[in-house]
Amino acid sequence: MKFSTMLLLLLTCFAVVVEAGSLDERFASYQEKGAGSFDPQQGQIIWQQGVLHTKSGKSRTCGDCHGDDLTKPGKHQKSGKTIEPMAPSANPQRLKDGKKIEKWFKRNCKWTWGRACTVQEKGDILSYLQQL
Ligand code: HEC
Repeated sequence: MKFSTMLLLLLTCFAVVVEAGSLDERFASYQEKGAGSFDPQQGQIIWQQGVLHTKSGKSRTCGDCHGDDLTKPGKHQKSGKTIEPMAPSANPQRLKDGKKIEKWFKRNCKWTWGRACTVQEKGDILSYLQQL
């Protein structure tokens, strides 16, 4: 085998490992920080729960922007911009990038629930979303 072929193979393996590992990495890191096991049903319940936003007096849910059917595009509540579907079956880009996941958890939990999500909540939500 030529050296360049070997290098290419090696790089391909590496990329696959990194991609496949990222959600498991999230789960492991949440558990290191004290979360228990994760429950997709609980994830669905909290994804759909309405939380009163005191300033506007309106109830907010994750679906406000991501829509009710997560295999379809959503619509941003503030900007009106289209948001690509959240379900990995409809949008293979989803739940691949740990940094992106954490960045949006931070913003969206604050906007929707008025506080940060706990590691338990994040794990439950990801275990729900990953099966869609
Ligand atoms: C105000 C609108 C809005 C609300 C409400 C909202 N999101 Fe999001 N969310 C976004 C936008 C915008 C993005 C980034 C654009 C994109 O990825 O399509 C995003 C992306 C994400 C991602 C990144 C997923 C990935 O791998 O690409 C996660 C996780 C997420 N949101 C979780 C939540 C959770 C949990 C809630 C409820 C607590 C929520 N979102 C509510 C607008 C919202």
